[in-house]
Amino acid sequence: KPKQCNGKVVSNIKILDNIYEMKLTGDFQGNPGQFYMLRSWGKEPFLSRPLSICNIEGNLLTFLYEVKGKGTDIFSKLREGDVLNLLGPLGTGFPLNNKGKIGVVAGGIGIAPMIYLCKSLKNDIDFYGGFREKPFYMDTIGKNVNKLYISTDSGKEGYNGFITDIFNPEEYSVVYTCGPMPMMSKVKNICEEKNVPLYISMEKRMACGVGACLGCSIKTTSGIRRVCKDGPVFRGEEIVF
Ligand code: FES
Repeated sequence: KPKQCNGKVVSNIKILDNIYEMKLTGDFQGNPGQFYMLRSWGKEPFLSRPLSICNIEGNLLTFLYEVKGKGTDIFSKLREGDVLNLLGPLGTGFPLNNKGKIGVVAGGIGIAPMIYLCKSLKNDIDFYGGFREKPFYMDTIGKNVNKLYISTDSGKEGYNGFITDIFNPEEYSVVYTCGPMPMMSKVKNICEEKNVPLYISMEKRMACGVGACLGCSIKTTSGIRRVCKDGPVFRGEEIVF
């Protein structure tokens, strides 16, 4: 059940350009694919910001986030000892009971929920990570997966091009994806061609985070769905890109 709680910053470090890793202590729970709404300011002037769970270990909660606007910019300036208000865990995460080998395809900051996912799955996992300039967090991922495929648009590391160019879902019983829309749309096409079930973690601007404001609604093949409550993880066939 989601609840309000406080989290105290243990560390908040820049790991690459505008990508940060923040660790908080507190009383946290949650499954891979779920998220928390966070704020480090009063009721105004901003809404809380959703961040997906990157890891939970004991009373330590890790977030990996990209500075994209005012809220995340404020997060990036938090220091050890600062306190945030959190609401969560929220949303519907990834199913963890699938049998067989699993393919995970993630792009950029979309790797954040996949770190906790890969750690939680007991299956054999092949991980496909696509990045613009430079990969990040791949050492951590590497510890929890069989094979690691990396691509960069810059050609600085791994395959020079899109991760979907080198992704073949044939040997997987299920595929999970999170990242930029064009990448996920391509992953969906590839999986449909080969008849492999897919789960997609969607991103949408959120206001309430708890299913009340309908601000995060998307049109799916099974009607209007709220990303914050019915998702963020949806079955691939539901999503219309
Ligand atoms: Fe309010 Fe999803 S953010 S319903």
